[in-house]
Amino acid sequence: MEVIIRPTVEAATGLAAQLIAEKVRSQPSLCLGLATGRTMEIVYDKLVKLHREGLDFSRVRTYNLDEYIGLPPESPNSYRYYMNHHLFNRINVDLRNTHLPLGMAEDLQLECQLYEQSIRNSGGIDLQLLGLGCSGHIGFNEPLSALRSRTRDKSLTPITIAQNSPLFNPPESMPKRAITMGVGTILEAKQILMLVIGREKAEILAKAVEGPITSMISATALQLHSNCTVIVDEAAAAALQGCDYYNWIFNHEPKWKPYH
Ligand code: GLP
Repeated sequence: MEVIIRPTVEAATGLAAQLIAEKVRSQPSLCLGLATGRTMEIVYDKLVKLHREGLDFSRVRTYNLDEYIGLPPESPNSYRYYMNHHLFNRINVDLRNTHLPLGMAEDLQLECQLYEQSIRNSGGIDLQLLGLGCSGHIGFNEPLSALRSRTRDKSLTPITIAQNSPLFNPPESMPKRAITMGVGTILEAKQILMLVIGREKAEILAKAVEGPITSMISATALQLHSNCTVIVDEAAAAALQGCDYYNWIFNHEPKWKPYH
C-alpha cells in the first residue's frame, strides 16, 4: 500500500483525477470501478473538466460498488441517479457500458450473482476507485463483512445511516439496506485507488491503513492488495503514525516526480 498525503482537498482530489485520467488515456477501454459520496463528487467534477479538454470515455466500461435497496434508478437519492447526474451525463461514456446493481430487483440474490457474472465477463475491474465510510466500510461492507465476501445485500450500520441520511429528505427515508460488491470482489480489482478527505475520517483512516486487518473495518483488507494507493489530504492524515515515511517516498520515488 502507498499513502500519499497532499496539503489540501483540491490537491488530493486533483491527483486522484489525474491518475484516473492517465489510466483512461493509456487503456481507452478499461473497466473502471466507481464509488459515490461527497468526496467523489469533487473528483467527478474534475474528470468532467478533463473530458471537456479532450479526455475520451467513449470506450470505458464502468461498475459501481453499490446501490440502495428499494430506490428506483430515477430517485434522486439512488446511486444510479447520482452517477448519471455527477458523471455519466456529462462525459461521453456510453450509458449501456455503465453498471450498477439494481436496487429494485425482485430477486436480490439473483441480481447479486448476475452483477458478479457481469464483472467477470467484462474481464474484471482494472482500476477500482474507493472512498472510506465512517464505519470503516468500503462500498457498503459494514463491520463483520467477511474478507472474502462477494456482491450481496447488506444491512447498514447506525454510523453509516448517520453519515448518509442528511442527504435524504426526510432523513428517515434513507434505505437501511444496500447491495454492495463484497470485500473479496473489490480485492480482485487489478489496481485500487482510495481517496479520503477531511478531519472526521482521520481516526478511521489510521485504523484502516496502519491497524491490524480485521473484518470489523473492511478497509483494512486493502492491506492485502498488491497495488493499492491511498490519497488523503492533510486533515485526513492527522492520526497517521507514518507520515514522514509516506512523504519521503512520495518525494523520492521517481514515479511520483511528475505529480509534485
Ligand atoms: C457511501 C458509499 C461509500 C463511500 C462513502 C463515503 O457510504 N457507499 O462507497 O465511500 O459513501 O462518502 P463521503 O465521501 O460522502 O464521505
